[in-house]
Amino acid sequence: MSELKNDRFLRALQRLPVDCTPVWMMRQAGRYLPEYRETRARAGDFLSLCKNADLACEVTLQPLERYALDAAILFSDILTIPDAMGLGLYFEQGEGPRFRKPVRTAADVAALPVPKADADLDYVMSAVRTIRQALNGRVPLIGFSGSPWTLATYMVEGGSSKDFRTIKRMIFAEPDVAHALLDKLALAVIDYLNAQIRAGAQAVQIFDTWGGVLSTAAYEAFSLAYMRKIIGGLIPEHEGRKVPVILFTKNGGQWLEMIADSGTDAVGLDWTTDIDKARSRIGDRVALQGNMDPATLYAPASRIRAEVSDILQRFGSGSGHVFNLGHGIGQDVDPEAPRIFVDAVHELSAQYHTA
Ligand code: CP3
Repeated sequence: MSELKNDRFLRALQRLPVDCTPVWMMRQAGRYLPEYRETRARAGDFLSLCKNADLACEVTLQPLERYALDAAILFSDILTIPDAMGLGLYFEQGEGPRFRKPVRTAADVAALPVPKADADLDYVMSAVRTIRQALNGRVPLIGFSGSPWTLATYMVEGGSSKDFRTIKRMIFAEPDVAHALLDKLALAVIDYLNAQIRAGAQAVQIFDTWGGVLSTAAYEAFSLAYMRKIIGGLIPEHEGRKVPVILFTKNGGQWLEMIADSGTDAVGLDWTTDIDKARSRIGDRVALQGNMDPATLYAPASRIRAEVSDILQRFGSGSGHVFNLGHGIGQDVDPEAPRIFVDAVHELSAQYHTA
């Protein structure tokens, strides 16, 4: 494999000196880009796009052609695992993901197979290999998975949810069933992320999008415990280099200390926690990723730059910060806005680094 030409992102995750703060955007490949919509139309639909390695590679690289991003993220979805478990994933126009066979009972959980990533999710691994080859060392490639809790919310609810009534009923009324499901998912995620690492992913992010809807005790028992187990099961090094882990719990600001102690290398922050307070609470034990409100990208250039400047100043001097949005980019963002954002991060951050 070719030498990395830009390793700022991996260095910042390990809190090693960098020349400026690296930046990427959650959901950077997506509908706000006309070229994405064009490739997706050629694929037919979103899932067919995920399952075609060449087209998945094409859309992964699209944002890198436009912006000076410091990392690429595999184009795929977190719901590939439940799909491989046989739940029948489909996307309803305007309604988000759905499952034909949601998981509701102890018998449903017992019947679920744990997919073997190299066989059952080989289309994801071919996408990873194809993207690594096409990147040719330009920037590192991030692999990812949903957290067991976040995957379980979709599997039990049968799709997106507002109040998480069905899965919450399960954790309180039938905790053993919930734990059996989460156990299977943790095994599946370990195997899935390790397969991505062997295929060429150079860092991995765990998306715990819905951890923040739980109480502290339930978060520890039903989400964090399983993410800790996953982190403990991952390949620590590949191709002679550490494979850092980023754990992103949306709305997890009140649990930063606990999250930082999970064994993760970096904690992803949404915009509801000030990054200066996060840094002073968890010190330099782990790196921080975040945390501009994605809605800032709807503002004029001067406002975007001011927000970037404020976050950089709050983080302060030294390495250990990967700039990002606090959640995924909006699908109706003007494609000029990310350029202003990415360039502002590089330009305004140099003064905080001495490397
Ligand atoms: O960051 C990237 O560029 C990589 C690609 C990526 C996608 N989904 C592509 C996608 C990643 C990392 C995800 C993760 C994901 N998927 C999460 C966790 C991330 C988060 O936002 O917290 C979740 C909850 C999902 C499940 C999912 N998939 C949802 C809720 C949706 C939106 C459905 C809709 O119609 O709005 C998807 C579909 C999806 N995943 C799209 C993309 C680009 C849009 C599909 C399209 O082209 O229509």
